Amino acid sequence: MPVDILVGTQWGDEGKGKLIDVLTRDVDMVVRFQGGNNAGHTVEIGDKRYVLHLVPSGIFRPEVTCVIGNGLVVDPVALDEELRGIEEKGFSTDNVQLSNRAQMIFIYHRVADSLNESGATKKIGTTGRGIGPAYMDKMRRTGIRAIDLKFPEKLAEQFRTECARYNKIFAEAGIQQLDVEAELTKVLEAAKRLAPMVCDTVYSVNRAVKEGKNVLFEGAQGALLDIDHGTYPFVTSSNTTSGGACTGGGVPPQSIRDVWGVIKAYTTRVGEGPFPTELFDATGEKLRQIGREFGATTGRPRRCGWFDAVASRYACMVNGINKLAVTKLDCLDDLDEIAICVAYKVNGVLTTEFPASVAELEAAEPVYEYLPGWKCSTSEARKAADLPENARKYLARMAELVDSEIAIISVGPRRDQTFAADAE
Ligand code: IMP
Repeated sequence: MPVDILVGTQWGDEGKGKLIDVLTRDVDMVVRFQGGNNAGHTVEIGDKRYVLHLVPSGIFRPEVTCVIGNGLVVDPVALDEELRGIEEKGFSTDNVQLSNRAQMIFIYHRVADSLNESGATKKIGTTGRGIGPAYMDKMRRTGIRAIDLKFPEKLAEQFRTECARYNKIFAEAGIQQLDVEAELTKVLEAAKRLAPMVCDTVYSVNRAVKEGKNVLFEGAQGALLDIDHGTYPFVTSSNTTSGGACTGGGVPPQSIRDVWGVIKAYTTRVGEGPFPTELFDATGEKLRQIGREFGATTGRPRRCGWFDAVASRYACMVNGINKLAVTKLDCLDDLDEIAICVAYKVNGVLTTEFPASVAELEAAEPVYEYLPGWKCSTSEARKAADLPENARKYLARMAELVDSEIAIISVGPRRDQTFAADAE
């Protein structure tokens, strides 16, 4: 009955795609449970690099069933394109299931997303994929669900109604009206292809659980972008933390065994919002270049900084993480010394708790502990014993500070550069 969840413990881009690709060796089903094509999961197999946005990372293993769960917001045109791209690379997509309860993103959500951003006094720096507006429609109960891909006439009627509503908003804002019929043609074209994969995934996932299959829930983004637990309002619009797997995948909490947390050996963030350990100096730039820290979805340069144990400990607590996977340790190989943020000083008061308020996070001065670097390459390591002593000490301190155990270490993008922490 093992059901595991894998989530990001920072602001996304922790390397979840790579980890899921490794974990799916023993998995029968991978389930995405929140978000949409704002995610960009990079998987490297041999010399090839694949970026997935909506399709679960198990897609490169034909025996794995890949489920796009009810908690997602799915752009049907983007999903159709992504599936075509995967097939062109020689992989089958017959193993993909799309939840009939998933909400859909349409052109008007993307336009509304950029409209919100352009007029905002506090820009979020969204991916522009229409995520927030689609979740807004879900909550206001005017969303259109994937089930309707099977009923083109009903879909067309709902689409036209929603377009008319949005066109009024766009007219008031003085922006271009939607070409409703042209957009509808694209949606109906995508619907033809997607309709056969639409099913009740709540049943298929629960059947798999009951049959004792290995099911992995794949989180997107990271804990600090969670709509409740993240740095609100600079967050995404879904629950990125482990609780989201139950609601967004339709499984009960008792079915969960392990919660894996992917944690980068340093911290990055894309978009706006507080980031207490951000580096604006040459070290930050070095991390960006060495770590190839450019968004997989938008190509934006990621903001880089030191490992923040205050934020990550909060993330581990909220998620109930019992297994950590540390990624990109090799990106620190060249540093003389490495800082870890162990506390914040907020308006003169020392705290080890992650503040809820953006104002406090913006005022937070990181309190650093400095560890010596190891100044040699770790990318050839295949077990913890191969790592230099200072690297092992750094990992041990990370684990101690976030109060969780390291189970996997990754020292490079390839499959063979990710190994179990207890590998002999
Ligand atoms: P949205 O999800 O497009 O609404 O964007 C909201 C915030 O989440 C922005 O700061 C984005 O940069 C950030 N975000 C969304 N998806 C990802 C991701 O996959 N990795 C990192 N940041 C993300």
